[in-house]
Amino acid sequence: MNKIKTVTHVNNVRLRQDGRAVIILDQSLLPSKTEYLELEKLEQMCDAIFHLKVRGAPAIGICAAYCMSVLAARISDVEGMKSCCDRISDKNFLDMMQKNGEKLKVSRPTAVNLAWAVDRVMDAAASAAGDEDSLQAGASTIAEAMCTEAVKIHDEDISMCKAIAEYGLELVNPGDGILTHCNAGPLATSRYGTALGPILLGKEKGIDFKVFADETRPLLQGARITAYELMNAGVDVTLICDNMASMAMKNGWIQACFVGCDRVAMNGDTANKIGTSGVAVLAKHYGIPFYVLGPTSTIDPRCATGDDIPIELRSPDEIREKYFAESVAPEDVKCFNPAFDVTDHTLITAIITEKGICRPPFEISLKAATEK
Ligand code: MRU
Repeated sequence: MNKIKTVTHVNNVRLRQDGRAVIILDQSLLPSKTEYLELEKLEQMCDAIFHLKVRGAPAIGICAAYCMSVLAARISDVEGMKSCCDRISDKNFLDMMQKNGEKLKVSRPTAVNLAWAVDRVMDAAASAAGDEDSLQAGASTIAEAMCTEAVKIHDEDISMCKAIAEYGLELVNPGDGILTHCNAGPLATSRYGTALGPILLGKEKGIDFKVFADETRPLLQGARITAYELMNAGVDVTLICDNMASMAMKNGWIQACFVGCDRVAMNGDTANKIGTSGVAVLAKHYGIPFYVLGPTSTIDPRCATGDDIPIELRSPDEIREKYFAESVAPEDVKCFNPAFDVTDHTLITAIITEKGICRPPFEISLKAATEK
């Protein structure tokens, strides 16, 4: 198996030097293979997001921002070869990019960071474009502005992870047992991660924790990625099946739960990987604090409550046969395979953002964090 030495500094998503491709580490193959993919076309980009080759809400956002930049640069290359009078107007260029952005957005509907990043890059494009009365800015100028914005989103994510990690570290004591669900580590973000941030930052500062990682059925992000990242960083990690969390809590092994998020509604209801809400219910029963860690870009002002969050439904084959040598269920058995669930805000102790620790009432603390 290939090993990455410093998982806090992974290059999971980046722009190729010529700006004409996004390079991603294919997370669907981990941990047995470390392979990179170069995404040049919209179809490849949508496929990579849909099939979780790039995954984790912040990483999906960064990837989408770079995808927009690459698509814009490629259109501007073609425009540059035309004579001045044949070139498309700024408005037509923006329309083309808007359509590309809409296709990227629907490749995974729950993680709001995807739409947020596409919209940010489109806003930068619109500001760079000439208004109707002025001279054309031109495709290459707009594409450059989109690239600058994508790099900014990536840079911000790096500092956001560090800030979340620092706030999260204040909430636990050396030696604590921490349960996490799915993967919200460096590979799902840019550096440190969100839910794994305090653990990895703690490790750097010589503070050790005992981490329990839910395997996370059906796509096994906990087994394949969280266990891999934490082991590579030298963290004490124990892998458990999702249905073992209650026993680990009852045994007194867990002092806190740290999970990531894909979308946070304004009342604090939080969408995260399927199974997260069950962990929160258990934590409440055993009196264990349940913390959600994520950037303010995951807070969606358009969602008043969790009922407004769209939940992605995925293929039954992920339950019936994926990761098994042969199908483990009757071939045509009916399956229900939501990729995410919503944890009710009443089960959440605090939401840790890069702007600070938000506690109930979340309507007030989340609003304040987004306005900072
Ligand atoms: O389907 P995935 O693997 O993209 O789901 C990922 C999660 O649910 C993460 O917890 C969330 O995106 C936060 S990543 C920092």
